[in-house]
Amino acid sequence: MDQKSIKREQWSTKLGFVLAAVGSAVGLGNLWGFAYRSSQGGGGAFVLLYLLVVLVVCLPIFVAEFSLGRGTSSSAFIAPIKAAGKNWAPLGWLFLIAPLGIASYYAVIMGWTADIFVQSIFVGLPLNTEESSSLFSTIHSGNRDFIGQIFSITLAGYIVSGGISKGIEKLNRFCMPILFMILILLAIWAAFLGNSVEGYRNFLFNFDIKQLTNPTTIRNAFSQAFFSLSLGIGIMVTYASYLNKTSNLPKQAFQIASLDTAVGLMAGLITFPIIFSFGLGETISNSTIATLFITIPSGLGQFGAIGRIVAIAFFGLAYIAAITSLISLIEIPVSALIDKFAVKRRLASIITSVCIFILGIPSVLSTDLLGNIDAIANVLLILGGFLVSFLLGWVVPKVMDVELENSGSSKSTRTYLKFMLRYITPVIVSCGLLISLYDLLKTWTS
Ligand code: TRP
Repeated sequence: MDQKSIKREQWSTKLGFVLAAVGSAVGLGNLWGFAYRSSQGGGGAFVLLYLLVVLVVCLPIFVAEFSLGRGTSSSAFIAPIKAAGKNWAPLGWLFLIAPLGIASYYAVIMGWTADIFVQSIFVGLPLNTEESSSLFSTIHSGNRDFIGQIFSITLAGYIVSGGISKGIEKLNRFCMPILFMILILLAIWAAFLGNSVEGYRNFLFNFDIKQLTNPTTIRNAFSQAFFSLSLGIGIMVTYASYLNKTSNLPKQAFQIASLDTAVGLMAGLITFPIIFSFGLGETISNSTIATLFITIPSGLGQFGAIGRIVAIAFFGLAYIAAITSLISLIEIPVSALIDKFAVKRRLASIITSVCIFILGIPSVLSTDLLGNIDAIANVLLILGGFLVSFLLGWVVPKVMDVELENSGSSKSTRTYLKFMLRYITPVIVSCGLLISLYDLLKTWTS
């Protein structure tokens, strides 16, 4: 059957769409990324830069991605061509390859998360950092992390195959309220820990003004903002393509970005007190993605039965946050296959899941490789963000004009967004992109 004659799927409610976008945004990036990037030396300066990037760069790009998706009603792979012609096909390819790359290692980290979750329920927690390190090596060496990876991809692929409103939207409606509840309870619990104030101080208040110009801190702030908001590689384009014409895009972008940022900050208010209350501060300086999988379990392990319950809640929370993000990453290639090749959704989900599994093998085998793929992907996000802002700011500003008029937002909001997208955002993102590239190459060659 010709796919074009089939009515395009839609979100069943506005709230459903917002929750799905929040579900995509809130993920391991908020829980792990925030903590490990801010502990790489940036501290309060990192958090400040991150907030600035969100406000000045990401919000306009958010609305631009939404406009591109809703304006063209097509998947991220073809939306750039529909909007601006064949020359923009490479952006579609970026929107196809980058999500596959991110999903490939994302699912591996989810596997570790699931493993520690199960471990906390059935076995118990490590009592010190050595035990925790050896637990982590058992988890991620041999074949054990394949199990978690395959389980996560299969689960996410299955949900995506259920469709937009009956799969993705339904899961998010169920998961998001639970996620917020656990998060608030954990933050309250962490506030009463012995050294919580020291944790907060290290996370937010150790403000070193020199860090504001440190290329690594700048790269971390850009990466964190784009990664955490799921921006730059077509997720928001794809999700918005299933929207009807009545929703207020700038307002929704603002809601989603605020919720995501709040979750990132709150996650820091949980992880940092845990880390500092157990004297693990040193082990996380120069931290990597894997470090938190060692410090958090051993920190909680020192807390007896309550620590175990908190670990179950924390890793359960992380897993819920991650699954709603992984489905968004899978949805991009799936929607491209449906739109471009008229493949059935079920088959498209299977093909995508198998690709993600194969691409993830290197990340299973080496955490260093995983870290490098993550670093490259994060630069691609910034590149994608730049191209989107250039496309909608300069090449086809009309697309955004039309969508903004349709959105019921105020005149001043529209003028502000258009001005930013034309004159400010592209300039700042390109600086961020150059600094990030420079910093990445420097880390690799040093
Ligand atoms: N935002 C998610 C997180 O914070 C991860 C994610 C999902 C993502 N989709 C994305 C990152 C698209 C970049 C682009 O964990």
